[in-house]
Amino acid sequence: MSVVLLISGRGSNMQAILDAGIPVAAVLSNRADAAGLALAARRGVPAVVVEHRDFATREAFDAALAAAIDRYAPRLVALAGFLRVLTPGFVARYAGRLVNIHPSLLPEFPGLDTHARALAAGAKRHGCTVHFVTAQLDHGPIIAQAGVPVLPGDTEQALAARVLEQEHRIYPQAIRWFLDGQLAIEGERVRVKGAHAQLAAGDRA
Ligand code: GRF
Repeated sequence: MSVVLLISGRGSNMQAILDAGIPVAAVLSNRADAAGLALAARRGVPAVVVEHRDFATREAFDAALAAAIDRYAPRLVALAGFLRVLTPGFVARYAGRLVNIHPSLLPEFPGLDTHARALAAGAKRHGCTVHFVTAQLDHGPIIAQAGVPVLPGDTEQALAARVLEQEHRIYPQAIRWFLDGQLAIEGERVRVKGAHAQLAAGDRA
């Protein structure tokens, strides 16, 4: 029934997922200094470090990470600000049960610095996306998105904060849908079963 979360830093999405009452078996981080680890431990959730620097290759790190994950036999593995590119082998191992949150309305702005890039492009809408992870970075079937307006005079920080608020709303919702068996991957798309599912993840002004 449970979820393993992978983090690298602050852990605010992790916190939102815990606050939503999602059953989290463990939080794993590739960095011992990830602030989210202490927070997880305080909430009584096992917090485990698998330092990527201890491994010579990406493959060796991903194998150790997978071993740590599989100890908890989770139904779902959720990346929540996990800043490592995963190998195709790792992604294949968890195909259909590995999800990520990305701070843009994919397919716009995959990669880093999404808020600065949205501002530089003069985008009028920006937002966040929860998607299944595939071998291609920041691609993969989209589960939920939420958009926010880009306001005149926005700074990167102001826009990031507006988007983050929506991340904290749609990520727990998308995970809940997965655990409740409401998601069907149909080719490149995800169908959310249930009458009000799409509405629940809709835009906020
Ligand atoms: C979020 O913006 C998320 O979309 C991105 O990394 C950030 C993680 O923030 N993938 P936090 O660690 O959850 O606070």
